[in-house]
Order: sequence, then C-alpha cells, then structure tokens
Amino acid sequence: MNQLDFTGRHAVVTGGATGLGYGIAQRLIASGGSVTLWDRNEAAATEAARALGTKAFAVGVDVTQQASVAKALATTLTHSPSVDALVNSAGITGPNTKLWDYPVDAWREVMEVNITGVFICCREVAAQMRQQNYGRIVNIASVAGKDGNPNASAYSASKAAVIALTKSLGKELADTGVRVNCVTPAAVKTAIFDQMTSEHIAFMLSKIPMGRFGTVEEVAAMVGWLCTEDCSFSTGATFDLSGGRSTY
Ligand SMILES: NC(=O)c1ccc[n+]([C@@H]2O[C@H](COP(=O)([O-])OP(=O)(O)OC[C@H]3O[C@@H](n4cnc5c(N)ncnc54)[C@H](O)[C@@H]3O)[C@@H](O)[C@H]2O)c1
Repeated sequence: MNQLDFTGRHAVVTGGATGLGYGIAQRLIASGGSVTLWDRNEAAATEAARALGTKAFAVGVDVTQQASVAKALATTLTHSPSVDALVNSAGITGPNTKLWDYPVDAWREVMEVNITGVFICCREVAAQMRQQNYGRIVNIASVAGKDGNPNASAYSASKAAVIALTKSLGKELADTGVRVNCVTPAAVKTAIFDQMTSEHIAFMLSKIPMGRFGTVEEVAAMVGWLCTEDCSFSTGATFDLSGGRSTY
C-alpha cells in the first residue's frame, strides 16, 4: 500500500457505514486523517466508527433531506474545524427490471438517493469549502453511468447524472481551491450485491476484461488519492476503475 498524505485533514464519507465508503474511510485514517461517517443507518455507522477507532465519528443522516444534511454538517463541525474532503458514496441500485416494467416509485427513490442526495451534500459542503478556499469532493458514480446497463435504467441514468454534476461543479469551483472529481467503478462485491439479481451480477462480471470484480481496497486507493492535496490539477474529471471495461 502506498502512503497517501491526508495528515490532519478531515473527511465526510456518506454511506460510510459499510462497503466502499467504509473502505475509503479506513484508507483516509491510515493516511493520517480523520473521518465522519454520514449514513442513514445510524447504528451501523456508529458501530463502523467504533471499529475504525478514535479518528472516526458517526452521524445519522438521510442524504435526500436538506435539513438532515445541514444538521449533520453542523454536528461534524463541532468535532472538526473544517471538512477538507467529501466523498459521496451513499447509493442504492433499485430493482433489476426492464424500463417498461420499472415501478415509478422505485425510479424516484433511486434518483432521490443517487443524484439528489449527491447534489444536496455537495451543495451544503461546497459552501463551507468555498469559505475555507480548500476542499476535495469525490463522487462515486459507476461504469453504468457511462455504458448504461440493461435492467438498471434508473441506476445508470442516476450515475450518468452524477458524472455530469461533477463536471458542472468542477468548472464552477475551478477558480477556487476546491477540486471535484468522480470515479466510475465496475462491480465490487459489497452488501450492495444483495439488492441485485444473480443474473445482473453475472452480466456485470462478464463485461470486465480482467475477469474479476474490483476490490474495496482498489477503490479506496484511487479515491484516497483524489482526497489529497496532490490532486491539484484535476477537476470535473471522471476516473476509471473498471478492470478494462471502459477505455474512454
Ligand atoms: N459495489 C459496487 O459494485 C459499486 C460499483 C459502482 C458504483 N458503486 C457505488 O458506490 C457507492 C457505494 O456502494 P457500496 O457497494 O458501498 O454499497 P453499500 O450498500 O455497501 O453501502 C451504501 C451505504 O449507503 C447508505 N445509504 C443509502 N441510502 C442512504 C441515504 N439516503 N442517506 C444516507 N446513507 C444512505 C447505506 O445505509 C449504506 O451504508 C454507491 O453509490 C454505489 O452505487 C458501487
């Protein structure tokens, strides 16, 4: 593992109770920083923070609710003077079904969490980062947002929106000390697999030229670097993590 320098920095990781968010939090702490896990599963976030040690805090938050996010930020700023990095990892898949059978409520829920949630967290935290003229925002999109996976129209559309939001916000903040980037992982085995059909998981694996799933550590390594000061001349960019699936 390479040593990243996140010394003395503080990150908020949404969806940090588990999966990719938890792995990213672990990597940022190993790099000298501290983290606050924002997750709607408050009990799991509290347990995760306990496992991560004294450099981790947990706040129960629903990223789809602006008041909840604003309150979580205020709470976070009571144990850290600044938020230097924001990683938007909270996300859901929605059902695996054809668009014409896709329940409208399920579509709305995927959009609420995956894109409106990212918008709200960026909105609240960017204001604070602009004040301190420093920050790193990393949004977890997906290769589905580039390719459009069949049987996952809401998920794919929401992740394409995350990529576009990243590009817009990156440009809006380019003349400040705030950088905004996203990553587009292919499949990584986490609890999110429980939300998908086995056929869909097999489809995702079949599309990866390396013939294997990515690992949480591989995602955390790239996201960790994007959270450091060294990531200075990249903004509004989309970083691949797909085992060769996307070469564009
Ligand atoms: N694992 C993969 O294969 C994969 C691939 C590409 C992209 N992604 C994306 O990476 C991100 C993390 O995925 P993961 O595999 O860690 O999933 P996960 O299911 O393990 O973790 C997601 C976390 O988000 C939290 N969450 C969900 N809705 C929330 C809300 N409204 N407010 C606050 N927290 C909420 C959950 O409680 C959970 O702790 C997601 O955005 C996902 O779409 C995952």
